[in-house]
Amino acid sequence: MIKAENLKKSFTTGIFRKRQIEVLKGVSFEIQAGETLGLVGESGCGKSTLAKIIVRLLPLSSGKIFFEGKDLTSLKTSEMQKTRSKMQLILQHPEAALNPRMKIYDCIVEPLRIHGLAEKGSKEERAIVEKLIEVVGLQPEHLTRYSKEISGGQAQRAVLARILSLEPKFIVADEPTSMLDVSVQAQILNLLKDIQKKFNMAYLFVSHDLEVVRWMSDRIAVMYKGNIIEIGRSEKVLENPIHPYTKSLVENIVNPLKAMKKSSKKEKTSPAFLDWKDDAACSYCISCPNVHQVCGSKPQLQEVETGHHVACWFG
Ligand SMILES: Nc1ncnc2c1ncn2[C@@H]1O[C@H](COP(=O)(O)OP(=O)(O)O)[C@@H](O)[C@H]1O
Ligand SMILES: [Mg+2]
Repeated sequence: MIKAENLKKSFTTGIFRKRQIEVLKGVSFEIQAGETLGLVGESGCGKSTLAKIIVRLLPLSSGKIFFEGKDLTSLKTSEMQKTRSKMQLILQHPEAALNPRMKIYDCIVEPLRIHGLAEKGSKEERAIVEKLIEVVGLQPEHLTRYSKEISGGQAQRAVLARILSLEPKFIVADEPTSMLDVSVQAQILNLLKDIQKKFNMAYLFVSHDLEVVRWMSDRIAVMYKGNIIEIGRSEKVLENPIHPYTKSLVENIVNPLKAMKKSSKKEKTSPAFLDWKDDAACSYCISCPNVHQVCGSKPQLQEVETGHHVACWFG
């Protein structure tokens, strides 16, 4: 369904002294129809940048993205628009996708109108909206309200209805529930799962929360400073994490206090190899408990067991 090959992205920052920062350093993965790939990693590692690049809201610096076999980087504008409606992004803040001056009904139906798939105020349009709200669990009375008059969970349901109106095949969800209360969070996550089953969609599910990612994903990709450093079936990555960074994340869920104590000690055991060139060395070497001479050159992803890849010399 979707395939990313060696994606790189740099931003230029600074006003007087321009600098390039490389946020994605060659990211590759595939996602099949009906499958969820979870993307986890600490804040700032590049998850949201990747999410936007995949749905073509941000241009790439280099690399290729294939959607149903078509190379998105070489599509013409008209074709791109058609394809883009089949790939949708859900963000943390539902308000961002819902116009505050429009009633929920109009918010949901807006993409259909834009794509000329429904006639404003027609019976057919109403019937589509009724079906959509049934799928996402909203009530007809919500349709006449404005987004600020419904709860965060209901707003995220409205966003889902809006997205589903275009019958997407691939959804990227970037921390879609991190602003919601825990109980509402679970409802929305389950709804996302139900919808996926119903329509056989591919998901890229992004979160800094490994527990949430575990609940949602068939496979998990762990990102660290712009690289995927471990990827594989969820149960393999979580029960048999190989990369020291993944190990520390997993330890964090099992025993957050112990992990905190450990990480506060970690700085003292920094390696004796600090004359390494930053971008040539393994990006985790400064925090890694197992750092060794060989880590001065960056390890590539290697298959350690079927479908489980790790970028560590000691994998
Ligand atoms: N438009 C931008 N211009 C410059 N730097 C950016 C821009 N967007 C993101 N970044 C930087 O890229 C890095 C990754 O950000 P992001 O993808 O939002 O991470 P995450 O979602 O994992 O928290 C951060 O260091 C951030 O400051
Ligand atoms: Mg983010």
